[in-house]
Amino acid sequence: MWAITRLESADTGLVSFIMLSLLYTLILTATAALGQNTTCPSLPTTINYAANPKLPDPFLPLSGSRITSKAQWPCRKEEIRQLLQRYSYGVLPTTKPTVTTTMSGTTLTIKVADGGKSMSFSVTIKLPTSGTAPYPAIIAYGGASIPIPNTVATITYQNFDMAADNGRGKGKFYDLYGSSHNAGGLIAAAWGVDRIMDALEMTPTAKIDPKRVGVTGCSRNGKGSIIAGAFVDRLALALPQEGGQSAAGCWRIADEIQKNGTKVETAHQIVNGDSWFSTDFSKYVDAVPTLPWDNHMMHALYADPPRGLLVIENSAIEYLGPTSNYHCATAGRMVHEALGVKDRFGLTQVSHSDHCGFPSASQAPLTAFINRFLLKQEVSTDIWKTDGKFTIDEGRWVDWTVPKLS
Ligand SMILES: *[C@@H]1O[C@H](CO)[C@@H](O)[C@H](O)[C@H]1NC(C)=O
Repeated sequence: MWAITRLESADTGLVSFIMLSLLYTLILTATAALGQNTTCPSLPTTINYAANPKLPDPFLPLSGSRITSKAQWPCRKEEIRQLLQRYSYGVLPTTKPTVTTTMSGTTLTIKVADGGKSMSFSVTIKLPTSGTAPYPAIIAYGGASIPIPNTVATITYQNFDMAADNGRGKGKFYDLYGSSHNAGGLIAAAWGVDRIMDALEMTPTAKIDPKRVGVTGCSRNGKGSIIAGAFVDRLALALPQEGGQSAAGCWRIADEIQKNGTKVETAHQIVNGDSWFSTDFSKYVDAVPTLPWDNHMMHALYADPPRGLLVIENSAIEYLGPTSNYHCATAGRMVHEALGVKDRFGLTQVSHSDHCGFPSASQAPLTAFINRFLLKQEVSTDIWKTDGKFTIDEGRWVDWTVPKLS
């Protein structure tokens, strides 16, 4: 599952003032396209970030003054989204595409047009056997690895049709935006999820309630599904399973696990495998402390608007980096805590030998998250449990505290 292909690094080069202003406008359009805050400044062209071996403080924007109020979070969130795109995933298209749909039997066909080009893709919808329409649903990357209850529809998304797993620039996304588009496969597939949400909102005959849609996937699709939820605010819940690094885990911690002698998926390794990230990420993978973010800040994108996130991990497979997954997610949850929504971010990390099998010990957490965020029941989701025995010193990774935001 870890194919090796060397990716080339792309240089950004100099951008003139005029192009910068243009870029600024485009970024505003792009964020508007994803339904986000449009009044925040865009990233500066040059970012001077002093190498930081610890997990960066999510509450400290590039401006250098730590945020003190909840009202300041939306723009910091937008900054984090832009950082993740520029340094790692690739930058999302800057235009709002036109979507049209056809529902036939169990197939929802979604035609997307932009810039004079168009493509279409389809998802299959398996309706639940109980409950009443419109139903809650879970979008499953490539098919579900988790048990989906008979009260929730399953929407099967062939994400590798949108962005090929092996072969950069191939798939429906690139048919529309060009094979040399800077987006890696993970964010291209997340863009596809955003189009599925457009389609569900405009197609009542699909019988899905767009306000109660979750997303899931395992392994590489565990990464895909958590990144989709982080970028698509319209999703009510994400249930990523065994995605390891760049899902639950942080690049900095993974590097140290590897240095300590346990083979794990590191940033250095990941740009050599498949086509998940932007080629620009290869500039940083051997200097991870120079990244002004780590993946705990991707988790933080779930804190506002508050949605559900249950990380389903496996403490038995060392390559998944269980230590990193636990500590990175714990750091990410500190943002939820600051915003008063800690119980919306859960973790269940259970030891089992079959990668992407679903252990019964994770069933109760899964049921609680589905019941609360898709079935709208009043149940507790304050769940943070691991059967892993970790000895690392948290203070070595986190040198900031949860602020009291006004
Ligand atoms: C790596 O090993 C050192 C020394 O034993 C230990 O302090 C540290 O916590 C280990 N790091 C990780 C991420 O396991």
